[in-house]
Amino acid sequence: MIFGKRKAYKVEEGIVRIQFASGEGRVTPLTDEIINIFSPIETIEHRSKAVEGNKAKGIAFSVKEKPDYLEIQTKRLTVRVYDEFKVDFYDEKGMLLCADYRGERQFGRQISDKFIKLLEVEGHEIPTDSNFNYDIQVVKQMEGDEAFYGLGDKTGFLNKRHYDYEMWNSDIPAAHTDAFKALYKSIPFFITLRKECVYGIFFDNTYHSYFDMSKENERYYYFGARKGNLDYYFIAGETMPRIIKNYTFLTGRTPLPQLFTLGYHQSRWGYETEADVRGVAAKYRDLEIPIDTIHLDIDYMDGYKVFTWGEEDFGEPGKLIKDLTRDGFKIVTIIDPGVKVEEGYSVYEEGMRQGYFAKTPEGDTYVNAVWPGDAVYPDFGNPDTRAWWAKNQKYLVELGVRGVWNDMNEPASFRGELPEDVVFTDEDEKSNHAAMHNVYGHLMAKATYEGLKKYDNRRPFVITRACYSGSQKYTTAWTGDNQSLWEHLRMAIPQMCNLGLSGMAFVGTDVGGFGADVTPELLARWVQVGCFSPLFRNHSSKGSVNQEPWLFGEEVLEVNRKYIKLRYRLLPYLYDLFWECEKNGLPPFRPLVLHYEKDETVKNLNGEFLFGERILAAPVVEQGMSQKLVYLPKGTWYDYWTGEKKKGAAWLMREAPLDVCPLYVKEGSVIPCYEPMQYVGEHEMDTLILDVYSGNGRYVHHQDNGEDFAYQNGGYNEYEFVILADGTLKIELVHQGYEKLYQKFIVRHNGKSQGFSFTGKPLTIWL
Ligand code: GLC
Repeated sequence: MIFGKRKAYKVEEGIVRIQFASGEGRVTPLTDEIINIFSPIETIEHRSKAVEGNKAKGIAFSVKEKPDYLEIQTKRLTVRVYDEFKVDFYDEKGMLLCADYRGERQFGRQISDKFIKLLEVEGHEIPTDSNFNYDIQVVKQMEGDEAFYGLGDKTGFLNKRHYDYEMWNSDIPAAHTDAFKALYKSIPFFITLRKECVYGIFFDNTYHSYFDMSKENERYYYFGARKGNLDYYFIAGETMPRIIKNYTFLTGRTPLPQLFTLGYHQSRWGYETEADVRGVAAKYRDLEIPIDTIHLDIDYMDGYKVFTWGEEDFGEPGKLIKDLTRDGFKIVTIIDPGVKVEEGYSVYEEGMRQGYFAKTPEGDTYVNAVWPGDAVYPDFGNPDTRAWWAKNQKYLVELGVRGVWNDMNEPASFRGELPEDVVFTDEDEKSNHAAMHNVYGHLMAKATYEGLKKYDNRRPFVITRACYSGSQKYTTAWTGDNQSLWEHLRMAIPQMCNLGLSGMAFVGTDVGGFGADVTPELLARWVQVGCFSPLFRNHSSKGSVNQEPWLFGEEVLEVNRKYIKLRYRLLPYLYDLFWECEKNGLPPFRPLVLHYEKDETVKNLNGEFLFGERILAAPVVEQGMSQKLVYLPKGTWYDYWTGEKKKGAAWLMREAPLDVCPLYVKEGSVIPCYEPMQYVGEHEMDTLILDVYSGNGRYVHHQDNGEDFAYQNGGYNEYEFVILADGTLKIELVHQGYEKLYQKFIVRHNGKSQGFSFTGKPLTIWL
C-alpha cells in the first residue's frame, strides 16, 4: 500500500482523518491507551467480528501539525503520523514504544536454482519469498530487546520471537510440530515485551494473514494480509496484565462459567453405544474418581446428522442423559457445522428452503464432505442462519444436554478446502469464504451460545475448536487433535499460556493426547497438567488405546485420582480466578512472565506456569524424569506438598516421582478449597477450607449458585480474607446477595487445622 505524502487532515467524531496523496488514513483514540489505525482499503468502515459495539470512550485528545508529522496526543500516548502513513507511538514520558520500520525489507535466504531442483527431487518444501509483499503490510522496527507472546494456539514455545505464523484456521491431522504455521484458531493479537515497556497489537483482519516475528530479519517484525483493510489497534499499558485488560475491554472477556464445567470431564471418540457410556460412568463412581461431565462424540447421532439421536445404539432419545443426570453427571454433545445432504432430514430441508447454506458463485448450494458424507455448510455470517442454528439448540436442551461441543468449524472439509469464492454472508452484505473462513467457528459458537442462553437459561457452556479474536465471550476452546506424544505434553504449557494471553481464558488440551497410544507414564504426567488447565478433559480418538484412568495399572489410577481430587479441592480458587477474569481478562493459566515481566529468566520459561497469581506448577513433561529443575520468581514460596519455605529469584531441583507435580504457593496466600466431593452438587458446599500461607495478604472469594445469571444482579456473596504478618486471619463477609452462607470455615496453617462456625459476623483468627 503506497500512501504518499500527507496532504490534509480533519477531526470528526473522535476520528483523525488524514488525506494522503493516495488513500486515507484514520487514527482513532478509543481510550487513552488504545489507538486504532485504519485505512479503508476494502470497506469504508470497520466490519469487525471481534469488537462488538462502540468501544470509543469519547476521550479528549489533541492534534498538532508539525513540519514532518501530525501529532495526536492522549493522556497516555503520543502518536506521530508521517508521510506514507508511517506511525510511531510514544508513552507519556516521551519514550518511543513502537516505530514503523522505514528501511527496505530483506529476505535473508539465498539458494540457486540448481539446488532448488535438488530439494524438489527429495520432496522438500521449497523456501520462497512469495510472501514477501502483501497489499496490506505493517513493518515495525525492532529495538533488539523484544519478546513476543500471544497469537492464539500456535505451536512451539512461549516466546514467538524468530518464528513466523499464519492466521488461517486449519485442521491438519498430522502431529502438530513447531514448524506448523497455523492450527485451528486465528487470534491476530500479540504482546511485545521490551525491557522498559510493553504493548499489544491487534490486527483485526479476517483474511489469511501473516506474522513474522523477526524471523525474516532481526531489524523488524511485520504482519500483513492480501486483502481486507489496514486495521490494527495499538494497545498500551504499564504492565502485561494491563495490556490484556485493554485487549479484552476491546474484544470481550470470558464470562463466569457454571461451576460444574470446572470439574473433570471424560470423553472419547469411540463410545459407540449407550452401554459404553454407562459403563464408563459407573466405573468412575465405583472407583470414586470425581467427575462431572461426560462428552458424547459423533456416534450418538443418527448417521452423523446434527440435532438427531441414534436410537439404535443410544436407545430412547434422552433416556441415557436423564439416567446419568440422576447420578450427578452432566452431558455435553458434539455438534459439527456440516449438515448431511439427505432428502427428508428436517435440518437439511429447512436450511435448504430458507437458503441458510453457503452457495457457489453460480448460486447453487455448495456441497463438500464431512463425517456424514455429502454435507452443506450453514452460512453463519447470515444473522438469520445464526438465529435458526440457535433455535436448533432447543432440541439438545430438551434432551437434557448441559453443554455443546462445536467441532470441525474451521470449517473442515474432506474433499479439499472450500474455494475462496464460495459465497457467504457478512451480516447485511454478500461475502465469500476468503473473508469469512477465519470467523466461521466464531460465528457458529456465537449462535450456539445464544441458543443455549435462550433455552437453558443458565450460563452457556460451549467448547469450540476454531475461533477468532473475541470468541472468548461465547465459548471455551480445546486445542484440537493433539497426539499422545511427550512433545505434545511439553507444548501444551506454552500453548495454553499463549491462548490465555490472547483472551481465550477457558482452554484445555485433550488430556492423555487424542491420536496415537498413550503410555501409562504419559497419562500420569498429563493429568498433572490437566489438573490446572481451565478445561480439564481426557479425550482420545477411535483406534487409539482406551484412555480412561483405570486402564494403566494401580499406580497410574492413583495418580489420576490424586490430581482429579486436587482439582475438586481447588474448585473455589479456580472459580474465583474466573470471577477475576470476567473483570480484567486475566486467564487462570498464566506464564510466569505475566506477573514477573522484568525478570529475564522467565521470558523464555516453557516448562512451568502459574495457576492464578498464587500457585506455581512445574510439572514433569519429559519421559523418564523424576526430578524437575524449577525456577521460582522473586518472593518467598512454600512447597505445596511439604510446606518447606523457599526463597525466590532462584532455581532449585525438586524430586518429582511419578505422582508428584512440583507445586509452590506464594507467601501471604489464602487458597480457598472444598471438602471432597464426587461431583458438583453431590452435597451442599457449606464448608470452606482455607489453606493459609504466612505473610501479608488479602484474598477476595465469591460464592453463588454456580449456574445462572443472578450474580450479575448482585446474587452472590463476597468474602474478604486478610492475613497479617502478626499471625492473624480476618474473615469478613463484604457483600451478601446469595442466600446460602458458608456455615463453617476450616483454617489450615503449618499443619494445624481449626474449625470455626460462621454466622455472617466477622471472625478474627489466631493462626
Ligand atoms: C475431530 C475432533 C475430535 C473428535 C473427532 C470426531 O477430529 O477434533 O475431538 O473426537 O473429530 O468427532
